[in-house]
Amino acid sequence: MGLKRSIHRILVFRLAISTLCICAILSAIVVFMEFKAVDERVIDRALLGAEQFRWLIIENLDAPGLGDHERIRSVMKRSATKTTRRREGYFVLARILDPDLREIAKVSDEDYQYIAAVNDYVDKGLDRSVLAGQGAWKRMKHFKKDVVVIHLVSELKNSANERVGYIEGVFAVAPGILAKARWEVFFTTLIAAGIVLLTSLLLYPVIMQLLRRVTSLSADLLHANLEILSVLGGAIAKRDSDTDIHNYRVTIYAVRIAQELHLGDDEIRTLLKGAFLHDVGKIGISDNVLLKPGKLNPEEFEEMKKHVRYGVDIVNRSTWLNDAIDVVGGHHEKYDGSGYDKNKHGTEIPRVARIFAVADVFDALTSKRPYKEPLGFDESMKILMESRGSHFDHEMLDAFAKIARSLYDEYANRTDDKPRQDLSKINAQYYHPDLVSYMR
Ligand SMILES: [Fe+2]
Repeated sequence: MGLKRSIHRILVFRLAISTLCICAILSAIVVFMEFKAVDERVIDRALLGAEQFRWLIIENLDAPGLGDHERIRSVMKRSATKTTRRREGYFVLARILDPDLREIAKVSDEDYQYIAAVNDYVDKGLDRSVLAGQGAWKRMKHFKKDVVVIHLVSELKNSANERVGYIEGVFAVAPGILAKARWEVFFTTLIAAGIVLLTSLLLYPVIMQLLRRVTSLSADLLHANLEILSVLGGAIAKRDSDTDIHNYRVTIYAVRIAQELHLGDDEIRTLLKGAFLHDVGKIGISDNVLLKPGKLNPEEFEEMKKHVRYGVDIVNRSTWLNDAIDVVGGHHEKYDGSGYDKNKHGTEIPRVARIFAVADVFDALTSKRPYKEPLGFDESMKILMESRGSHFDHEMLDAFAKIARSLYDEYANRTDDKPRQDLSKINAQYYHPDLVSYMR
């Protein structure tokens, strides 16, 4: 249920984000297109108007210094009275400027509500550099919400086609155009959201079905991988013992120490695999050494030490298992460097291997073996503490000492199903609960 809910949540979240993104992009496109259309119509009108006006004042344009400026003003006023307001808006201000951008003539609609702001805006003057080399220039200006003007400047040429001045206009975009743009944005957004939601509704069952299949395959894969752990760990245990229960107890001890030390989930998963497989390399040790009842002679001990290297070789062959390498390769190292296989010491030994060493020796001391009876809690702890800082990392041993009594009471020398059941619960905690099948 948990997995299904989390996939559902991710899917809904992603779809919501996609909807928002698509709506935002479409809205921006609609606004751009709407204003571009108004812009183009206004520019066409302005250029046409400028051309007509140019011929009305062509004699001024041909005269030095634009001739009689009073005449230009009167022609402008006459033209302005003929101008009608159109659906998109209208010109609220027009100016004739000389080549140095000095005002020659001006007409404006004093009834326009924002004429003061427009006058203030054009009085700030034009940036001469933006006009350099250009026949026309324009800019859209937002004074406030619903007050948008298009500011245009076009050059004026005399009959010899020489630039003798500029005509400037400020076109107030009708509020209706802005309302229309807003409505189109709203409408387009609504349509886009509807399409995305409808598509999502159609795709949702398909995606969920595919995810269920992938999840089922993942669960099978995890099940198979955990079985490999169980089979490998059990196979070697069967060679030198009747039962593999030691692997379960020692893995539980190691994980509990790691939890006490607040290790991350990844490191604990490493420990879960490594602790369970720590002696997997014993599979390559000959029976006369592995099963010898008495003490090993130096040559036999050298042979026995090879199980570490064999174990590393084995787990290295599996991508899923090879993070067990830290424990498998380091479980006989000692903190003072007197262990094997690499004679590492201190923090050179991976932390998970230092944790495991404590768990392994504690379980060996407190378990019954064919050649010995289990030791009691106090005696076992005394032996461990004697090796604090030599065999064992003091930090790991101290963390273990805090929980050792309860672990001893719960698991020591226990051969029933409890360690197996409890390790299953730990696996469920560190792998996805819905994907875990219990190790048997
Ligand atoms: Fe070992």
